[in-house]
Amino acid sequence: MSLDIVILAAGQGTRMRSALPKVLHPVAGKAMLGHVIDTARKLQPQGIHVVIGHGAETVRERLAADDLSFVLQTEQLGTGHAVAQALQQLSAERVLILYGDVPLIEVETLERLLQKVSEDQLALLTVELDDPTGYGRIVRDVAGVVKAIVEHKDASPEQRAIREGNTGILAVPGKRLADWLGRLSNDNAQGEYYLTDVIAMAVSDGLVVATEHPHDTMEVQGANDRIQLAELERHYQKRAGRRLMAQGVTLLDPARFDLRGEVTVGRDVQIDINVILEGKVVIEDGVLIGPNCVIKDSTLRRGAVVKANSHLEGAELGEGADCGPFARLRPGAVLGAKAHVGNFVELKNAVMGEGAKAGHLSYLGDAEIGARTNIGAGTITCNYDGANKFRTVMGEDVFIGSNSALVAPVTLGDGVTTGAGSTITQDVPANTLAVGRAKQRNIEGWKRPEKIQK
Ligand code: UD1
Ligand code: CA
Repeated sequence: MSLDIVILAAGQGTRMRSALPKVLHPVAGKAMLGHVIDTARKLQPQGIHVVIGHGAETVRERLAADDLSFVLQTEQLGTGHAVAQALQQLSAERVLILYGDVPLIEVETLERLLQKVSEDQLALLTVELDDPTGYGRIVRDVAGVVKAIVEHKDASPEQRAIREGNTGILAVPGKRLADWLGRLSNDNAQGEYYLTDVIAMAVSDGLVVATEHPHDTMEVQGANDRIQLAELERHYQKRAGRRLMAQGVTLLDPARFDLRGEVTVGRDVQIDINVILEGKVVIEDGVLIGPNCVIKDSTLRRGAVVKANSHLEGAELGEGADCGPFARLRPGAVLGAKAHVGNFVELKNAVMGEGAKAGHLSYLGDAEIGARTNIGAGTITCNYDGANKFRTVMGEDVFIGSNSALVAPVTLGDGVTTGAGSTITQDVPANTLAVGRAKQRNIEGWKRPEKIQK
């Protein structure tokens, strides 16, 4: 059966106290609405319709994609009114309603819900709550058959005692929706057009209302303020940590691990505390990541080691390569197998061959460094003349003396040695020693200045 998904995202979110529209507040580095859209996509619907209102332009700009259609709800007159704005675009046999501020809903839960909707059956996602205050209550008859949803503010004391709450998520037969929404009134405690009034209409039209439930109530938890946002974030991270551990990763403390993107992991990976993985990260078997590292859009090959306090972005570590502590690998940093980058070394757009080393205090930008080449402490590639960038190319088995400045464009052949403190401005042929510094003079009999007596 075909499926359309409507995501409600027009509300203001006053309690966020923010210039940013509520649904753009991030969980795990991604807008809440982005999570909902990605989950919706996994159901492969014929259409995803996002109802926007507050901050509509910002939301559209941030999330626009070919497979999304945005519908403007200029005034927020209620959830029923919001869905009605999308009606013209809906044509599928089933319509699923989701919420832009309920980001943790699982695709598996929605699949179970969707199995219960048909031409003459509607499916509601509900939860048993210890404190259902604020939720619409699921009203059942003595036989347990769902009859209606009553909003908290409209509910009688007896109805308020009901602990089964409406999550808001429901799936309905598409054919009936226009008729039901057309019949909604706003004659209720909040003066809104309630989507939930559709339930009683469906019952009186002879439809069955089936219910389904999430495994975890956090799946249907919305974020109305930053406290709830933080709770969702922690829950997401707990879930992400558990998934990784199930795949064979040791997290020294799952409470101090954050995933803000996607990671694929091998076996026997060990991740120390306060590590943040962002974007797309690939971690192969046996990788060790020390504490306090940020690793974004990077690939760590088998047996690679990232030591404490390193920052990687757009980098690749070859098999058995290592970096840090305090390494900074910027986009285009590629370490060959067993290459080594030590403390306070920054690489940008620099490729190091197998077994090449830069142990301490260097800047290597726009550089190509051959296998087994050793970069002395304090070496700098002078890749920028204030207007343009140039490349530094070093062959294999090169030895760069400490504190060398390599003024690009410059090429050093295989087996070159540079004297410590050299400024290298010209190409150096293979197997040559280049010394580019003032010659030392020793001045005999030189007298130190003496303090002038006053
Ligand atoms: C709604 C349900 C309630 C349920 C609760 C779960 C209705 C009438 N009530 O109540 O049964 O227990 O969710 O959280 O549906 N929105 C729009 N346009 C509007 C109104 C709302 O886009 O005109 C969006 C809001 O941004 C929000 C969502 O719909 O994301 C829910 O709206 P809200 O007014 O918060 O509904 P609740 O009162 O929480
Ligand atoms: Ca709400």
